[in-house]
Amino acid sequence: AHQRLRQNRRSFWPALWVGFGRRPNVLCPNFKRHSPLFIYIRNRKFYNHFTMKKLIAIVLALGMSLGTLSANEGMWLPIFLNQNFAEMKAMGLKLSPEDIYDVNNGSLKDAVVSLGGFCTAEVVSDQGLLLTNHHCGYDAIQTHSSPEHDYLSDGFWSASLEEELRNEGLYARFLVRMEDVTNRVLDSLSSDLSQAEREQRAARVGKQIAAEATEGTAYTANVKSFYHGNEFYLFVYKTYRDVRLVGAPPQSVGKFGGDTDNWMWPRHTGDFSFFRIYAGEDNEPARYSEDNVPYQPQHALPISMRGVDPGDFTMVMGFPGSTDRYLTSYGVKQAIDKYNPTVVKIRDKKLDIMKRYMDADKATQIKYASKYAQTANYWKYYIGQTKQLKQNNVYEQKKAIEEKFSRWVKQDPQRQKKYGDVLSMFEEAYQAKDDYVKSNVYVLEAGLIGPEIPLFAFRMDRLLGRYLQIKEKIAAAETDSAEKALQQKMQPRMEALKNGAMENATEFYGDYNAELDQELMASLFGLYFQNIPQEQQPEFLAEAGDKYKGNFQKYARKVFKKTFLTDSSELAEFFEKPKQKTLDKDPAIEIGRSLYERYQGSNKAHAKTENKLDKAYRLWTAGLREMNPDKHYAPDANSTMRVTYGTVGGYKARDAVRYQNYTTAQGILQKMDNNDPEFKVPAKLASLIRDKNYGPYANDKGELPVCFIHNTDITGGNSGSPVINGHGELIGTAFDGNWEAMSGDIYFENELQRTISVDIRYTLFIVDKYANASRLIDEMNLVYEAPQEKSNTTEEAPAEKESMEANEM
Ligand code: ARG
Repeated sequence: AHQRLRQNRRSFWPALWVGFGRRPNVLCPNFKRHSPLFIYIRNRKFYNHFTMKKLIAIVLALGMSLGTLSANEGMWLPIFLNQNFAEMKAMGLKLSPEDIYDVNNGSLKDAVVSLGGFCTAEVVSDQGLLLTNHHCGYDAIQTHSSPEHDYLSDGFWSASLEEELRNEGLYARFLVRMEDVTNRVLDSLSSDLSQAEREQRAARVGKQIAAEATEGTAYTANVKSFYHGNEFYLFVYKTYRDVRLVGAPPQSVGKFGGDTDNWMWPRHTGDFSFFRIYAGEDNEPARYSEDNVPYQPQHALPISMRGVDPGDFTMVMGFPGSTDRYLTSYGVKQAIDKYNPTVVKIRDKKLDIMKRYMDADKATQIKYASKYAQTANYWKYYIGQTKQLKQNNVYEQKKAIEEKFSRWVKQDPQRQKKYGDVLSMFEEAYQAKDDYVKSNVYVLEAGLIGPEIPLFAFRMDRLLGRYLQIKEKIAAAETDSAEKALQQKMQPRMEALKNGAMENATEFYGDYNAELDQELMASLFGLYFQNIPQEQQPEFLAEAGDKYKGNFQKYARKVFKKTFLTDSSELAEFFEKPKQKTLDKDPAIEIGRSLYERYQGSNKAHAKTENKLDKAYRLWTAGLREMNPDKHYAPDANSTMRVTYGTVGGYKARDAVRYQNYTTAQGILQKMDNNDPEFKVPAKLASLIRDKNYGPYANDKGELPVCFIHNTDITGGNSGSPVINGHGELIGTAFDGNWEAMSGDIYFENELQRTISVDIRYTLFIVDKYANASRLIDEMNLVYEAPQEKSNTTEEAPAEKESMEANEM
């Protein structure tokens, strides 16, 4: 679940630039010697723990019948886990906090990466093999696909390292360390600063701290705000930029159920794909090169073959993007009434048009597969969020919190002074924002990232404009000899800009259909013109609307005929006679500039309101924490590494409907419909399931588990995250949330909210039985028996015992 435009609060310039989400061995001597993690890995020749397991099961069953699943809200920072540790232990965690996060020794955090900044992936072998979701690898799989090599439909399985496919721009980012720098940041902020000054200064100090933290290293770092400007933490990262595609199932497995099943349980999707991190010979990050070698990780997750039962402990580590758990009732109302329906309305149109062109032509279908899926994912998300905000009475719940807060504030003059204005600030700011929130959605959703040409034109304008500037400087320098030297220095920069522009264009046109885009423009600009008051429209739109009397079909036709930005050859021509005038009179560039101006202008015009909101949220969050000093509040997600934990279990979805905690392969056959592209099942898979040819991947009832649910707290960005059991072993890959709790990013639903994960055994089954890619299985560390616990000293297993039957059950 990546790339969600942040709602309700300050609209931001999203990641538009990218188009939008060891096995420890002797080579790893510093692996913690006495941690349970180490002990079981050392002894992974397997123990028979039958009795112990049984006992645990009984205890858990008792626990389950007494209480139910406990509430598991919270995406926690790995350095603060000691605060949760007792609870985690009680729920079944066998590890120490240092097994999870340790700066000096390999720990779980060293097996978890941010994949490209939009998803999470985990290291599952000592050769840098990465496991993530199919939908996280989708863009890469799509980019390598063509009608001749349709990896989307057929899947892709490299047979050797040499066949693994390079992916421009995709990176794997490790967290090196993090640190609480709140005091240093706050000390630099005097209390008389305005909110805007405060944010600026905090940003400046943050940059300074990050610079100090990375000095003399190849690391990068940033300081991020937590609890809405009340706390600040530093994050230091190490980034590998040679990440190759290793394997992916066909989308009839990886995306089984399509948009119909998306965001829903019960699910039967094999939402996984494999990548590999490559490093230089010194195991350090290196630019892509044929000489790069598989990365040797500090830690790789062992894989449990035992599965999970209701009540079992699970933990998810990853990089959740954003949540709005402190959103007030005013914000909830605005989301329901204004923000969400606007996004949905625009995307409805967009999806219709894309689908029509995709259905008509196979090449377009492949080119637009990833764009379509990205648009559809958050289209359905906002439909569900609106529905469940209402269904789950989130507005009322927020109101109740606000009333309690209000009473608490009134009890004490000090509080009154500090927090007395907070709620009225919200009321005023949201009222002001009501007037422009729709226009903010339009400028992005129907504008800059509606049709594709405006943003592309905007970027090209910048690149080509800079190219021309340098060119002019060089020309002007011709006479003077000192300047001549300068000219020589600038020549390569100019060339780089030209190459950059050409590369950008090649990439863009590789997945582009101008006819489709022209229709998007006509339709979305028409919608924009109709639904947003003139004074909030970008200049070009109001003009065009007048001139073409609202006929945007005609307008778009004109634009696409006139612009030189619809294919590479015209761009190449530009470089033959490069002139600023060509840019200035290009209609697509005019659109790009005008939309960007509108976007910036809106930010400036509404800075006062946005600052007021920021300030109100800072005080509100601080006040809530002060009001409930015993409640352990988790900070909102902000793309930093988090840990969430909970237990496996089903839920009551609605009247008379209770969902079980896992699905099996039989359900794939039940959903199968080969006339429906969303529910097509590959013949080979169907026959493997019919024959129950599950190999060692079946559970002890002889079923092949496919997906399971657990009450951990995840959101977009967590996609691909490892689901880890109490022993630190991988049991699945998180990929979705459930429909009934689509309001969960705003208000966590204790009874309803679930993480949906692929059972690792289904992943392995597909790799092994369906794809025959056993080379991948061979490099992973499959663990069949529960590792011995540290405290359990009575049971000493003979180290030689190696007679594990894969599918004994
Ligand atoms: N809802 C999932 C998420 O955001 C993405 C699932 C992708 N599947 C799909 N049918 N689009 O994590």
